[in-house]
Amino acid sequence: MSTLILGIESSCDDTSAAVIRDGYLLSNVVAGQAVHEAYGGVVPELASRAHQQNIVPVVHEALKRAGVSKEELSAVAFTRGPGLMGSLLVGVSFAKGFARALNIPMIDVNHLTGHVLAHFIKVEGEENRQPEFPFLCLLVSGGNSQIILVKAYNDMEILGQTIDDAAGEAIDKCSKVMGLGYPGGPIIDKLARQGNPKAFSFSKPHIPGLDYSFSGLKTSFLYSLRNWMKEDPDFIEHHKTDLAASLEATIVDILMDKLRKAAKQYNIKEVAVAGGVSANNGLRNAFKEHAQRYGWNIYIPKFSYTTDNAAMIAITGYFKFLDKEFCPMEAPAFSRVAL
Ligand code: KG4
Repeated sequence: MSTLILGIESSCDDTSAAVIRDGYLLSNVVAGQAVHEAYGGVVPELASRAHQQNIVPVVHEALKRAGVSKEELSAVAFTRGPGLMGSLLVGVSFAKGFARALNIPMIDVNHLTGHVLAHFIKVEGEENRQPEFPFLCLLVSGGNSQIILVKAYNDMEILGQTIDDAAGEAIDKCSKVMGLGYPGGPIIDKLARQGNPKAFSFSKPHIPGLDYSFSGLKTSFLYSLRNWMKEDPDFIEHHKTDLAASLEATIVDILMDKLRKAAKQYNIKEVAVAGGVSANNGLRNAFKEHAQRYGWNIYIPKFSYTTDNAAMIAITGYFKFLDKEFCPMEAPAFSRVAL
């Protein structure tokens, strides 16, 4: 009998549901929330309300596209945290009601574990290249910048992480002061492709070990910008592409420096990247360069698995299902916690 897992993700501003059969993805539906654009950031209360509106149609659509009826499901996996509490509660409550009504087990998934295990989502008819254990995973999103040693599906160790801002957060904040809109990542990425990455230099952190820091870079960017604008009030407009390219290059350098250090220290050549910022072209190119120069086997996810999605929750749920790791009905959502 096949194992059919419904995954539900609602930790931030995307409502998503996905169905996986024996590790193969059947559907992955994501409803974004345009409502936040006007505010330059995610407004938690608006996110929760949008999740409330989206959750039923999104789950319905995911089951429909998968050609699966809810009675066939083996279990329902859901993001329990970390994330915005109000947003998480929508998915968690829905999963609980759904599991109870169908009398099937519930599987709680850590959102960050989901990002890492997105590399194991298989699609019928595709190559489905997967990292071998142990591998390193650079997890870079709006809220996290971590280097993770992945020893097995259920055995991960955080080797280093940001001590202040995340890489995505730094990009988003710099983009905001440049008046470019939200989220800044894709906008900076697009502009950077037309600019000179060496046009400006911004300060890089000197943090020992494998930890990251991005708040200094953000301050250096803002400070430099303010000075340049005293000379030329239209400085941003005149140098948009070069500013974006230089900022992106600095962030990519900071990320890759520590990742290289970790790869050397742990003597690992299997290296993956995950999370929203892994959509970035500069970072993807840096991975490809490192593969050539250092003989790394690199794993870069499809764009659709880089940002928040339920496919990664469903695949994590699938592995936990095989280990019979279910969660009790009273399991609460959590907003902050390590992997
Ligand atoms: O993993 P994710 O979707 O959400 C959470 O953090 O929960 O990551 C979102 C982050 C945002 O900071 C966004 O600006 C960034 O990923 N991002 C990018 C790109 N696409 C999204 N950053 C750089 N380049 C991109 N192409």
